[in-house]
Amino acid sequence: MNRVLVTGGAGFIGSHLTEHLIRAGYQVAVVDDLSTGQKSNIPKTVSWRKLDVRTQAFRSLVRDWRPDYICHLAAQLSVVDSVREPTKDASVNILGTVNTLAAAAGRSLKKFLFVSTAAVYGQAREIPTPEDSDLQLNSPYAVSKYSAEQYLSLFESNGQLPAVIVRLSNVYGPRQRYSGEGGVAAKFAAAVLSNKKLVIEGRGEQTRDFLYVSDAVQGLIIAMEKGRGIYNLSTGQEISIRELAVKIGEVAGTVPNVTYAPARPNDVKRSSLSPIRAKRDLGWQAQTPLTDGLRQTLKWFKEIL
Ligand SMILES: NC(=O)c1ccc[n+]([C@@H]2O[C@H](COP(=O)([O-])OP(=O)(O)OC[C@H]3O[C@@H](n4cnc5c(N)ncnc54)[C@H](O)[C@@H]3O)[C@@H](O)[C@H]2O)c1
Repeated sequence: MNRVLVTGGAGFIGSHLTEHLIRAGYQVAVVDDLSTGQKSNIPKTVSWRKLDVRTQAFRSLVRDWRPDYICHLAAQLSVVDSVREPTKDASVNILGTVNTLAAAAGRSLKKFLFVSTAAVYGQAREIPTPEDSDLQLNSPYAVSKYSAEQYLSLFESNGQLPAVIVRLSNVYGPRQRYSGEGGVAAKFAAAVLSNKKLVIEGRGEQTRDFLYVSDAVQGLIIAMEKGRGIYNLSTGQEISIRELAVKIGEVAGTVPNVTYAPARPNDVKRSSLSPIRAKRDLGWQAQTPLTDGLRQTLKWFKEIL
């Protein structure tokens, strides 16, 4: 049985990835420092350690457990926090990745999967944006994730490990956090179900590409097994934040009570990634229509709120 180590496996995407890997027949171990993740997200049958990926203890775990694959998702992912605390962002996202790579280098790993982000494209000229577009690194988060990508490529070109990079668009679904930043669908779902106001930043005309978490993790597993280089995982569809609010209301069977807040400085106006390479090379494409994904998301939020 192939062994997969998932860093950030107590988080939103990492916990779904862990479940899907188990179903696919892998032996999985999770490392997470629980800074934003939760122990309850980790399936009970999975062995896990509360560790920071920047530590020597984590390196020893990699040495002793001998994974065949590493899926590296542990990260600081708030753009706002990255601006407020760029040192912490760089420490977790760059040094955390370098330490993980150094732990894995030269150990006959079958693949190192790094989960990157649409944020590296910034405001792209071409929408949906292909992988070879110019990058616009307009936040410390974008810089730190791209730096980690570059380290990965360096380790690979030095022959230290085989690697694949996946750039995800906006992922949504059960277990996404609804406080803090990032999970706009989660925030809207929680607000609708608690009869609170949905807060739209700016005019709500900014677009995003919403990928359901099951589709995302299926793509991550195929990329881990078959991929080399860089892939976007996305739907290729743009939807505005205002349309998202309306759709969530429709699925919840209510008219959402919307209020507007000032736009975020530097907020990207349009974002959608082209998934054509992933379809061509990996045979992957998103399957879940937005309405179905939102229905699943609302169902989960109803259970926990
Ligand atoms: N959610 C999205 O829409 C999205 C989009 C693009 C890329 N990503 C990437 O996907 C990955 C997972 O994101 P998520 O949405 O599941 O976020 P999340 O915050 O739920 O997951 C991150 C996990 O990493 C853990 N972690 C953070 N720092 C750590 C450290 N130093 N050592 C060990 N564990 C640590 C956290 O406790 C958490 O469980 C991240 O790398 C993020 O950059 C997410």
